[in-house]
Amino acid sequence: MRFVEQTTSHGLDDLRNELRELKKEKNAVILAHNYQRPEVQDAADFVGDSLGLSIKASQTKSDIILFCGVDFMAETAKILNPEKKVLIPDQRAKCPMAMMLNAATLLEARRRNPNADVIMYVNTHADVKAECDCICTSANAPDIVNDSEKDVILFGPDMNLSYYVRRRTSKQIITVPQRGNCPTHHQISLEDILLAKEENPDAVVVAHPECVPEVQDGADVVASTEGMTRYIKDSKKEKFIIATEIGLLHRLRKENPEKTFVPASGYTVCPNMKMHTLDKMVQALKSEEPEILVPRNIIERARMPVEKMLAISAKLRAK
Ligand code: 13P
Ligand code: SF4
Repeated sequence: MRFVEQTTSHGLDDLRNELRELKKEKNAVILAHNYQRPEVQDAADFVGDSLGLSIKASQTKSDIILFCGVDFMAETAKILNPEKKVLIPDQRAKCPMAMMLNAATLLEARRRNPNADVIMYVNTHADVKAECDCICTSANAPDIVNDSEKDVILFGPDMNLSYYVRRRTSKQIITVPQRGNCPTHHQISLEDILLAKEENPDAVVVAHPECVPEVQDGADVVASTEGMTRYIKDSKKEKFIIATEIGLLHRLRKENPEKTFVPASGYTVCPNMKMHTLDKMVQALKSEEPEILVPRNIIERARMPVEKMLAISAKLRAK
């Protein structure tokens, strides 16, 4: 699928060259999520999932982070790097799932469940993160939950990721809010999977845990975008039906030219992720705007749960 873009007189090569020069001049690093447009992924220094991007953001020595992802991801980079400038090419790139949970709702749930640990998906805004005990991503959600000393966990905002975690823990999971979801993944149906499978009976079905329970249950593998990439690279199979945002297909095809990838549905596009273009990346680095700003008191409180997640992840990876 193509997206209308690049309202500039520059050619793509000029934009790529300009971006390279600006990056050097400003000591900037470009981080991009797996759902970005192909040309944005290709121009980035690192492409990955939410966990990988948080880890990279925590390690960078650059003065400027140009973040090609949605608002909560760029905010997480800022929480981990309060002294650095975090830029986002298009400020309208906001995650609808993150908008489904506000701090007041979470505080009320915490008041009603005083003995629960509050573990929220990274797809939350900074003021919500500030009220959490720990953050998780789709790559580590069950591990983070199982690492908790508490038996009851407040988990959100994704009801589907909550289902995924519930199937992998004996702890009681209370989902907050009850019906939060990612509109892009939530619309992929079991029928989509069955149709794709009918046309490609030899394909392995790989789904993201933001998909509805029936799709997760009908898939051969359920994993984060990085987990999917790893699984496919190691697999001896040749064909895969991919139930996640179609941006990941670019990376999968690039890294596995001998394998075939079929999107589970032609509608699996996150319009927010597609807002960034090379043109806007150049503009952002030139003007050093739009900048991601998070109030200092929120950064101080949100940092602990994000760093706790990174520490647990590092401990688990070292095992
Ligand atoms: P991951 O790339 O961490 O699997 O997350 C998917 C997503 O929807 C991010 O917004
Ligand atoms: Fe949010 Fe879904 Fe888009 Fe990810 S794919 S940014 S969860 S709307």
